[in-house]
Amino acid sequence: MSSPRSLFPDLDQRRAEAQLGGGEKRIAKQHEKGKLTARERLDVLLDEGSFQELGTFVRHQVSDFGLANNRPYGDGVVTGYGTIHGRLVYVFSQDFTVFGGSLGLAHAQKIVKIMNLALENGAPVIGLNDSGGARIQEGVNSLGGYADIFLLNTLASGVVPQISAIMGPCAGGAVYSPAITDFVYMVKNTSYMFVTGPNVVKTVTQEDVTAEELGGADTHATKSGVCHVTAANDVDCLLKIRDLMPYIPQNCEDPPPARATNDPADRADAELDTLVPENPNKPYDMHDVIRRVVDDGQFYEIHEDYASNLIVGFAHLGGRSIGIVANQPAVLAGVLDLNTSIKGARFVRFCDAFNIPLVVFEDVPGFLPGTDQEWRGVIRHGAKLLYAFCEATVPKMTVITRKAYGGAYDVMNSKHIRGDLNFAWPTAEIAVMGPQGAVEIIYRKQIGEADDPQTVKDEFIAQYREKFANPYVAAEFGYIDDVIEPRRTRQKLINGLEMLKNKVVNNPKKKHSNIPL
Ligand code: HXC
Repeated sequence: MSSPRSLFPDLDQRRAEAQLGGGEKRIAKQHEKGKLTARERLDVLLDEGSFQELGTFVRHQVSDFGLANNRPYGDGVVTGYGTIHGRLVYVFSQDFTVFGGSLGLAHAQKIVKIMNLALENGAPVIGLNDSGGARIQEGVNSLGGYADIFLLNTLASGVVPQISAIMGPCAGGAVYSPAITDFVYMVKNTSYMFVTGPNVVKTVTQEDVTAEELGGADTHATKSGVCHVTAANDVDCLLKIRDLMPYIPQNCEDPPPARATNDPADRADAELDTLVPENPNKPYDMHDVIRRVVDDGQFYEIHEDYASNLIVGFAHLGGRSIGIVANQPAVLAGVLDLNTSIKGARFVRFCDAFNIPLVVFEDVPGFLPGTDQEWRGVIRHGAKLLYAFCEATVPKMTVITRKAYGGAYDVMNSKHIRGDLNFAWPTAEIAVMGPQGAVEIIYRKQIGEADDPQTVKDEFIAQYREKFANPYVAAEFGYIDDVIEPRRTRQKLINGLEMLKNKVVNNPKKKHSNIPL
């Protein structure tokens, strides 16, 4: 049977032209690099058949530099909206096959249009970046186009979730749009981000560095912290973004979606009772605690390979989305430092902006001492995490599993900074510092004058542990709401979330706060 003749052959022909982007040859080149095209990426990202394109026939209006006869439809970016798991999202996907995905005025205006729609209709924006940056032929209009996007990124920050995937080049000032967004995903080996590329670096600093070393996914996931999630390839990246969506709401006025679970709310886990080693200096993996407590053991980690002495990520508890911030005793004993503070603060602020309750698992020996940390500003940066927890008004619960020492006790969502429910396991130790250090300071004279200093010191340590290294002193003052059997943690937290579901706390009226940057 022959296919029916279209009533609108002109439209069909133009649409086919638009869909072909930069043509077969350039598409083949894109595939050779292991990359999908802009449209193929949207097919993976969005629910099947849900994509509605806007601006299909937009073209640039530039007449010089030989561009008058080179005006491909779409102008190097595919924009529109669709759904992920049935929920509305706005998307743009840069098409490297058209002018290298470079951004000119028309290209920028298409992105601006969908960002404005996202703001007005309260839905997330997902940008798939694959671009040679500012379109050289369009001069200031390219620069202005970027600035228009930066402004909207900033205005939309905290209003709708913004997610960036870097799936090819992203260089120069172009990096600052993803940098303002909430989460940056990068594809290993095919994407890079830098302000100045290897050639300029070589000229200015004489350093020899490849694009991958300078700004590849691994670099930004481990060294700079620019990248939140890495992916093995394009499909992996897009599926990981899909997986994030069930944890986050549409906008700052909506709650995150509930997720059904068969995991019983009163499930007790006896393994938790013996998970913390008796020796206070022995590490254990806080991931084990998290997975044993949350729904179905599912934890979506953010910044997995960056500042790993702090774990942050999303999970569900009793079907509700939560943001988890947890010290990791298995890395540097879970100490807080500059990078963990920055990582934690950004995550806490995302959760607070988007109505996601916070759950803290705490085992922290304090802040990392040393000239390196002090000179690089551990005071300034450490203050960020403290500030973020202090200002957060979402439901906030803490479980102290072992150490809660010094300033870190205050910082990690203590009762004093508006923790709503603060629980401790019987293994908790809450004190100004660890027994060893404390005894050496307060009993220095007695130990020094003793015939057998070690025995005397051991006795003081035992006394100190008895007095301070337990949760009961804090519980006597009401700073700990309850000391709980570890096995009951899930039950207590789910119960707490239910109790706190209508929490309303308002911070003092102000223009905006001034977090120590
Ligand atoms: C116009 C560009 C372009 C650009 C690439 N193309 N970048 N056209 N403006 N910025 C075109 C190429 O001419 C080519 O066209 C096609 O895209 C593919 O580019 P290739 O060079 O063939 O691809 P590849 O070898 O993979 O190299 C990709 C690249 C390289 C590394 C991105 O193209 C490159 O270095 N581009 C310039 C990057 C740059 O300096 N951008 C400005 C950054 S400053 P044909 O027709 O041959 O297919 C910036 C400022 C932002 O962005 C300001 C914000 C404040």
